[in-house]
Amino acid sequence: MDRIAITGGAPLHGDIAISGAKNSAIKLMVASLLTDEPLRLTQMPRLADTRFLGALLRRLGAEVEEREGPSGPETLLQTREIVSAFAPYELVRQMRASFNVLGPLLARTGHAKVSLPGGCEIGARPVDLHLAALRALGAHIDLHEGYIYAQAPRGLKGARIAFPISSVGATEHAMLAAVLAEGVTDITGAACEPEIVDLAACLAAMGAQIEGAGTEHMTIRGVSRLAGAEYAVAPDRIEAGTYAMAAAMAGGEVRLTGARAGDMEALLAKLEEAGVGVERLNDGLIIRRNGARLAAVDIETSPFPGFPTDLQAQFMALMSLAEGESVVRETVFENRFMHAPELRRMGADISVSGREARVRGVERLEGAPVMATDLRASVGLVIAGLAARGETVVDRVYHLDRGFERLEEKLSACGAKVRRLKD
Ligand code: EPZ
Repeated sequence: MDRIAITGGAPLHGDIAISGAKNSAIKLMVASLLTDEPLRLTQMPRLADTRFLGALLRRLGAEVEEREGPSGPETLLQTREIVSAFAPYELVRQMRASFNVLGPLLARTGHAKVSLPGGCEIGARPVDLHLAALRALGAHIDLHEGYIYAQAPRGLKGARIAFPISSVGATEHAMLAAVLAEGVTDITGAACEPEIVDLAACLAAMGAQIEGAGTEHMTIRGVSRLAGAEYAVAPDRIEAGTYAMAAAMAGGEVRLTGARAGDMEALLAKLEEAGVGVERLNDGLIIRRNGARLAAVDIETSPFPGFPTDLQAQFMALMSLAEGESVVRETVFENRFMHAPELRRMGADISVSGREARVRGVERLEGAPVMATDLRASVGLVIAGLAARGETVVDRVYHLDRGFERLEEKLSACGAKVRRLKD
């Protein structure tokens, strides 16, 4: 298993081009199942997760071609016919978002058998809201031996769907099913994340009729077929936020090309409060910190436009060197503090009680061997390593490869001492 070694202490200076968003790209790839025409996705990130999903889509009948286009990496997807409406456990277990093929398979063929994803490192992550939405749209759903068997022999029908809590995946799943349902679907309690807006815009380019994406109330008028389209994946706000915190941690000045400040305000406001310099540009951001120690600030994760749970581990790493005590509250997932004991191994002073972590800033972290537990936790350890004295070696780097494209290359180009150790 590969590891990443970081020698701390080098400030970051330079430009980092932000890749297309992982959590948009994988849902847009799923949307390709809804049409027999080609969907061309540009600004595609090349990640382990997009490869996993490509493998699943091929099994279902898609042709998936990754190629270098005029504006960078793109993926061409075309599902002339669904050859199998079966998503096996081995594939869904590797990447939970694969579960979202259920809705499109049902919409296109009237039946599907898809494995339940199970829990994961950060929480139980049930799919009850996904299933409630599909049931509302008229699907018959049974569970046998870990598999969802879903049927809609006479097609899905528009319905009212009221989500009791904000769920990105369930909102996206409802959208992916409702666009081809007969009649109008009215969704309340919808998630408002930028990835929802991205999915709605791609579906609209394919001919779907969606109003209100990015608000809690969405209306979808079903159409009888969708067409092919070309669509550019939005920049990854989590990748951009992570590099912003890397620069804040290591010091220096970094330009994040392509980052959309408007999608990142919850983080940027907290960074400014802590004393980080943030300059908002038309096509990116400049992040700088010169010398002075950062001030401790509190955060509480919540659905968009709140502070993203996917940036919580990185912020905790940043606060471990701040002056004073900061409280980090995680309200989205119930078990997302696995990075805290690893940061403690580097000298951080963090105590966790339930959904709250108290981080008392220390003057210095020290490099140590640490273990990645999930994607965002592992990158939190990498940015801690950038500011630590000595060498940090992050094990189980496959987590990082799921969601950060060419991480070592991007950080090294700004002067960080980061290298991959191949086993
Ligand atoms: C998406 O997960 C992202 N994943 C996550 O990023 C992200 O942390 C999360 O949204 C929140 O922003 C992808 O887009 C692939 P949710 P998702 O449904 O859709 C509960 C990363 O590192 N819930 O919004 O699965 C759930 O347990 C990943 O890139 C139910 O109770 O998240 C959680 O507490 C990690 N029942 C809350 O809702 C359901 O049916 C929000 O989860 C569905 C969700």
